Amino acid sequence: NDLYAVVGNPISHSKSPRIHSLFARQTGEQLEYTAIQAPEDDFANTVKGFFERGGKGLNITVPFKEQAWQLADLRTQRAERAGAANTLYKDSKGSLTADNTDGKGLVTDLMVNHGVRLAGKRLLVLGAGGAVRGVLGPILAEEPAALTIANRTLAKAEGLVSFFESVAGDTHLEACGFEQPADAFDVIINGTSASLQGDLPPVSTSVIGADTVIYDMMYSLQTTTFNQWALDQGATRVFDGLGMLVEQAAESFRIWRGKTPDTRPVIEELRND
Ligand code: ATR
Repeated sequence: NDLYAVVGNPISHSKSPRIHSLFARQTGEQLEYTAIQAPEDDFANTVKGFFERGGKGLNITVPFKEQAWQLADLRTQRAERAGAANTLYKDSKGSLTADNTDGKGLVTDLMVNHGVRLAGKRLLVLGAGGAVRGVLGPILAEEPAALTIANRTLAKAEGLVSFFESVAGDTHLEACGFEQPADAFDVIINGTSASLQGDLPPVSTSVIGADTVIYDMMYSLQTTTFNQWALDQGATRVFDGLGMLVEQAAESFRIWRGKTPDTRPVIEELRND
């Protein structure tokens, strides 16, 4: 069987082996997908060893996505822009190639699974770290009217605006602190890791209008802190990152196997855990 794995630290809670096994069963692909915990200081050797043993492809998760990007010989355009890679494989010439399917996963979950249009809409993205940089390219490709990046550290939001200005087309891109946005947005995406500490980005409640779509890139069994706050403000279209998790995996699977799995039953199965 062809061998695949997800590499991270820690890795024991990763849902990727389960997701990819479900995809393989569904599509009739013969493959094995495991989880590998790389030592914090030995990621490169872990990757090297995996491919030397004949491994076909890796997913990369926290804290190694930037290192995976560095390590690669080649990067797809979306990985280049993301500054981080979640997918590695050898191309037909044997070059270690990096891709990033996170942004595609987010956009597919929003647009296909939840029926949310981004074109012409006003978007607010909270956070300016690696997770946000990873998804901005595919979001901008949908041509929203305006995209505001709000962050605790303003300079990081400004850095992302300068970096993505050249691919923003007609989208009005701007950076600000959390307190500044006051008007209602069409779509609000939380890409901060604040929920991990049970914190909320201190944005005004006025950014949520009657039809505002709320998307937390985080996923947990209970409603995330951010989504609970949005629900408490009266938001009704509130989604978490489970669909994004499954869709980014589906895009990696498609790259490796040339087959597109049906994500809906997989999302449902994970939701019912
Ligand atoms: P990730 O890979 O999850 O993006 P990161 O690059 O460390 O991790 O970025 C974390 C993001 O969450 C940043 O936007 C960070 O804000 P700063 O840039 O000001 O550090 C944001 N963040 C983390 N903890 C937060 C908190 N308690 N409140 C608000 N924002 C927070």
